[in-house]
Amino acid sequence: MLEGARNELFSELIATCDGMLAPAVYARIYETAQRGGQIVEVGTAMGAATVALALGLRHSGKSGHVFTFDPMTGGPRRSLNSPGKRIARIEANLARYGVQDLVTVTPSDLRSGLSVLPDDQTVSVLMLDADGRIDRDLETLEQRLAPGCSMIIDDIADQVRVKRQGATYRIDSKMRLSWLLFNKLTESGKLSAGQQLVDTYFGEVIADANSIIDRDDTLEAYRQLVFQTASTNRLQRLRSYLLEQGQEVAPDFVAKCRRFYRRIKYRRLAASSEMNAAEESSPGGSGGEQVAA
Ligand SMILES: C[S@@+](CC[C@H](N)C(=O)[O-])C[C@H]1O[C@@H](n2cnc3c(N)ncnc32)[C@H](O)[C@@H]1O
Repeated sequence: MLEGARNELFSELIATCDGMLAPAVYARIYETAQRGGQIVEVGTAMGAATVALALGLRHSGKSGHVFTFDPMTGGPRRSLNSPGKRIARIEANLARYGVQDLVTVTPSDLRSGLSVLPDDQTVSVLMLDADGRIDRDLETLEQRLAPGCSMIIDDIADQVRVKRQGATYRIDSKMRLSWLLFNKLTESGKLSAGQQLVDTYFGEVIADANSIIDRDDTLEAYRQLVFQTASTNRLQRLRSYLLEQGQEVAPDFVAKCRRFYRRIKYRRLAASSEMNAAEESSPGGSGGEQVAA
């Protein structure tokens, strides 16, 4: 697919399926799925990455299927918190891109819905973008992963999100948990160093990893979450307050503002990663892994 058409496709995907990642990240998800075979996604949301995976599979011409899991009870859009409404919306999104025949949507977590996966095939691509518990989902599938299974893990960042909820604050450590667990997995040689594009990791399971999840490493990652610091400033607090109030009175307007903000943010990221790429390909470039963050 030509670069321009590709950018347009992934920008449209973000707008139509409430995609939360950058267009370049969806493009990379699409490319990863071209490996074909059994593709598993944990954390469907509105199906943006599901569509990217299914389109990659379709355009590869290879056989395969995408299995996606999400309990559909939380997530980005309060108005779509009932599982029935969410599934209807996801199915409409799949139909819009003509990939419904390639996807099975399971409204549960991976462990409870595991029986939908045909057990005569191994998993060739695994995408984790749920609640940060990448240890749980990897452990559930570790006996079924193909050697060198392609891995995509989103929200790898040493950050927490702090959100005021009435008189209390909600501290969301999903990203930091993923980051801590991910570091253990790469340090112990279970996952390749791979590449990180914004906050999303693309790499592989190391072929000779017998058991991916080590209990001591996992517990250590959770222990490190016990004492943590998070900083916030007045501007961030004002932003959270306005978003919270806006969500109550004009949720669609807030969703539009969020999309606008993301578009600007991703445009800046794309420009800086183009600059990095240009520097690396120039004669004096540093070479090595490209990191856009
Ligand atoms: C960040 S969103 C996923 C975004 C999506 N991959 C995309 O690109 O548009 C996280 C999703 O994970 C789901 N989720 C939360 N806990 C989960 C679990 N244990 N298993 C599967 N999905 C879960 C939430 O309902 C939410 O829809």
